[in-house]
Order: sequence, then C-alpha cells, then structure tokens
Amino acid sequence: MSKYQLFEALTPEEYEALKASIIAVGVRVPVVLCGDTGEVIDGHHRKAICDTEGITDYPVEKVYGLSEYEKRHMARSLNIARRQLTQEQRRVLIREQLKDTPELSDRAIAASLGVSDKTVGVQRRELERRAEIPHIEKTIDTLGREQPRKPVGVINPTERQERLLNNPAVVERMAADGLTSPVYAMRRINKELIAAREVTDLELSEADCQIFCADIHNGLPEVADNSINALITDAPYEADYIELYSDLGRIAARVLREGSPLIVMTGQSHLPEVIQRLGEHMTYNWTLSYQTPAGGSIQIHNRMTMPFWKPVLWYIKGKLDSKKYVYDVITAPPPDGDCDTLHPHGQSVQGFEEILRRFTNPGDIILDCFAGSGTTGVAAVNLKRKFIGCDISADYVKIARARVAAALDAQKEEPPAITPEAQEAII
Ligand SMILES: C[S@@+](CC[C@H](N)C(=O)[O-])C[C@H]1O[C@@H](n2cnc3c(N)ncnc32)[C@H](O)[C@@H]1O
Repeated sequence: MSKYQLFEALTPEEYEALKASIIAVGVRVPVVLCGDTGEVIDGHHRKAICDTEGITDYPVEKVYGLSEYEKRHMARSLNIARRQLTQEQRRVLIREQLKDTPELSDRAIAASLGVSDKTVGVQRRELERRAEIPHIEKTIDTLGREQPRKPVGVINPTERQERLLNNPAVVERMAADGLTSPVYAMRRINKELIAAREVTDLELSEADCQIFCADIHNGLPEVADNSINALITDAPYEADYIELYSDLGRIAARVLREGSPLIVMTGQSHLPEVIQRLGEHMTYNWTLSYQTPAGGSIQIHNRMTMPFWKPVLWYIKGKLDSKKYVYDVITAPPPDGDCDTLHPHGQSVQGFEEILRRFTNPGDIILDCFAGSGTTGVAAVNLKRKFIGCDISADYVKIARARVAAALDAQKEEPPAITPEAQEAII
C-alpha cells in the first residue's frame, strides 16, 4: 500500500464495480501523481485497474513542489471531498491531519479539509487527552497569523462539563477569559446574551398601542407618513389575496421611515408574484427561513410537499440603514396555548418576539396591518415596542385589543421573583 493510500483496499465487489464503470465510461476523476517521484497521491484503484486492463488514455494530474506534509494533506482533502467516507473514516483523516500540523488552528484545518471546525476541535481535544499530539500554546489561523491558544483543560470532567466542552463557543470563551470551568463560561455567555436582548426601563401605556379595523385596500390613511420603524406582518397566503401585496408594498413605502424594514411572513405557493408585487415599491433585501419543526406539517398535494418552514421576506424602504447582522434562520417554538385557538392562522408570540428582536429596538413603533389576533402586538408590548395594528375583521380587532391590553397589564405587575435556579442560570 502506498504511503498516501489512506484506507484499506476496496472489497472485491467494490473493486469489480469500479472496474466495470471504468470500462464502460472511462476514468472521470484524474489520478493525481507526484510529478517528481511518480507516486500516486490519489486514485490508486483507478490507476491499478487501468494498468491491468491496458487502459492508457486516462486523465492524470501531476503535482510538483509539494512537501511531504503537503502531499499527505492533499491526499486527505481529496478523499474527504470525493469519497463516500464513514464518520469514523473522516475522523481518522482529521486526526491524521492534526498529528501532522497540530500548530494550525481548528478553523484553518477545517477550511483546508472542508469539514467543520467543531469536528476538528473535538478530535484535537481527544488527541490531546491521549497525549497523541502536544498541547499547542499558539495556533496559526487561516491567514497564517499566530494566535495564542491558552490551555483549556478540565480534570475529570463531569458529563455536563463534557457536553459544554463540545461547544466551541464555550471553549473559546474559556481560552479568552482564562476560565477553568466550562459551566462558568456558559453562564457568562448566557448572561451577556440576556443582557444584550432586553434592558429597558421604558413603560408603555395604552396610548402606545392602537388597533383598529381597516381594509388596507384603502391605503391606511390613519397611519402618518414616515412614522413607522418597522412594518412586521403575517399576510394572507391564499391566491385570492395576492393583490394585497401591492397595497402592502405601497403602504410600507409611505409610512416607513427611510431605511426601515418591511418584514412579511408569507406562504410558498405564490412566492414569485408576492416578491414581484412587494418589489414594486420596496427594495428586496433577504429572505429568512422561519422553521416550524415542532408544529407538524400539512401536505400540499398540488405541489407534493410537506413544508416545515416558511419564508419571511425582508424589504427595505430605500437603502438599508442598519449595522446589525441578522441571523437568517428562526426556529419557531412549539405552538403556544393561544396560537391557533384565537385565529385559524395565529402565530406564536415567542416566534414573533424573535423576529422583532432581530429587526427592532425598544421604543420603536411597529405596524402590523394584518394583525389578526394581535400576535405581533403582544410580542411588541412584551419587548417594549409601541404598536399600531389593523385588520379587516372587527372580530379579530376585538380579540387583538383584548390580548394587547392583557400584555400591557402584565407589564404593570411586579416582575416575578427570580428563583435560585434561574439566578444560577444567568449569573
Ligand atoms: C395570516 S392572518 C394574520 C394572523 C396573525 N398573525 C395572528 O397571529 O393572529 C391575516 C389577517 O389578514 C386579515 N386581512 C385579510 N384581508 C385584509 C385586508 N384587506 N385588510 C386588512 N386585513 C386583512 C385577515 O382578517 C387575517 O386576520
């Protein structure tokens, strides 16, 4: 076996199948040879079959000027990219690479092999634990810069600690802050996340939330020009309502402040026309995926699909005016109690809170012109955003008003005492 042949020879059946394919259609992927020594770096079986079958016109790529290590690396990355490897075989290749170049950062190795840096990190820790590679103080990143790598080690880790140590963010945090406890690192991360989410003393009053009955065909004259920070809505998905998307785009272009977002949750069936209509007045920016894995799925027979996500379209009035990066996948929580008992298409408050967090700030004025049972309004109040909502149905307006009023009332109550467990989770 050549030193660049990374795995055992093919089984006789696999060998025969490869031979039959080569005889039928030739060699598709070039055999890679060292230009100077003629050694095979990749394609041992392809070459062996051609040699025994007397096939000479197969593609050969010759590579020159590679160090011994670079040849091994090439063999590994070609194998990972091309072969149907098992998980264990992939791990073997990553471990071999780590043994060759422990000084390269996880990210640099991951990028060169086409795997995730988390996977590399897990294998590195395992090799370090078994003392098969040295613990490196400085690693070299993808740009070739030396980065200090402070030791991250835990003696006799518990199951929980081990689980946390598999999270690269925890390990990075331990290294960056010189921590010895992954639990403490996780708490620091959580605490920062929570603090970054909502810290505001803003008190909302009834006057900050208005919900009224209106048909948006009429252009929504009740809402002043350039007065809204974000229009966030869950529009009707059916074909009969498609014209409303032109009205929606026109209203957004009038009432939003320059650079502000129009966020529209919609269905898949009429997406091309929805996008075209909204684009008549607004600038398309991105589509987020709102995933509903816990909500079950209906079958869409005429399209033969079972959707587990829906698009959330992101348009801008004019030019994007934000320096905040938005993560474009939202996983909806399991349906909450009120969801679809109050409205057949009711959304989850938590899911809409997540959308609002990504696109708005406390104190902002949010408009939802297809308010339905008021989900966006409740999410807005919970997160200290002001809210204007409307719906064509007087019944839904009544429900939405009651829900938003209840959310406002809940704000006036003393916040619940923090239990020792909750305290522990955020300290
Ligand atoms: C998908 S539902 C919104 C559900 C809402 N997100 C919730 O959680 O309850 C769309 C709403 O648009 C309203 N609607 C339909 N046509 C309208 C129009 N022309 N003007 C205003 N609202 C309209 C419907 O009454 C319906 O409540």
